[in-house]
Amino acid sequence: MRKIALATLALSLIAGLPQIAQAKTPAEDLKDFRAYYMKRFPGIPLNNYQDGVYAINSDAKEAWENIEEFPPWEEGFEMGKRFFDTKFKNGKSLASCFKNGGMGIRQDYPMFDNKSGTVKTLEGEINACLKKNGEKPLKLKKGMLAAVSAYMASTSNGKKLNIKVPNDKKALAIYARGKQHFYAKRGQLNFSCANCHKDNAGNMVRAETLSPALGHLTHFPVWRLKWEKPGKPLSGFGTTHRRFAGCNQNIRAKPMKAQGEEYKALEYFLTYMSNGIKVNAPASRK
Ligand code: HEC
Repeated sequence: MRKIALATLALSLIAGLPQIAQAKTPAEDLKDFRAYYMKRFPGIPLNNYQDGVYAINSDAKEAWENIEEFPPWEEGFEMGKRFFDTKFKNGKSLASCFKNGGMGIRQDYPMFDNKSGTVKTLEGEINACLKKNGEKPLKLKKGMLAAVSAYMASTSNGKKLNIKVPNDKKALAIYARGKQHFYAKRGQLNFSCANCHKDNAGNMVRAETLSPALGHLTHFPVWRLKWEKPGKPLSGFGTTHRRFAGCNQNIRAKPMKAQGEEYKALEYFLTYMSNGIKVNAPASRK
């Protein structure tokens, strides 16, 4: 079943031209990216894309809103908040490593850091802070790291994503790497992210409607019902990189390292593409 559905989808793509635009600036890319979805789904206001697939699927949206009324992530979220507030052995806490004590800063991440010439993700910075203060870093992708990040992200809810790609060789190279990942075909099934979340956004694959990539990273970390285990209040949480790994696996491509350079670049590109849409985290998903 699985193979057939994807193969059919693949056939519909063969005629498609390579999608990598020529040396446009990030601002021009963003304009084109948005315009593509605005044309594909006329009448949907930009900010609605913060709801992922539910922006374009009103039946599913109702069921989802019912879930969000008593959010399955609540207990884990509180644990993340407590972790954030807990003092380190040296008396400091996570707040000491971030601008504004870590509150209301999600919209600026991932952030290009001039000094090191690298992109910093929120989760990467949480772990860097723990290490710097002699604490044990958290496991990547899920669990407490995702819960703390979800709590921090929630304090930015209502603020528009505002990722900066400065006119700097290194920043532009990381951006280009992320863009390349998004449009490059990979895996045994030879799909790019764009094939599913752009060319086929709104179409079904297996039993799922494919979400638009516009707005993809407004609401992370997410809580997925698929990941949730009864009695384990952190189990459903996953970071952006956990989700990337899952989507890579769907097309039988080898997932890459969480917080490695490739996924950081992809996160940088994809979050930039959602600039101007309000943060809305955490959100539950199927
Ligand atoms: C074969 C199709 C397919 C490909 C290729 C694919 N995905 Fe997905 N992706 C899905 C499906 C199905 C879902 C779950 C339904 C949805 O939200 O689209 C999903 C969900 C997601 C989500 C979560 C959306 C949300 O609102 O929480 C993100 C982010 C995402 N994909 C990113 C990517 C990225 C980045 C790539 C490339 C590395 C990629 N996907 C490749 C099928 C695909």
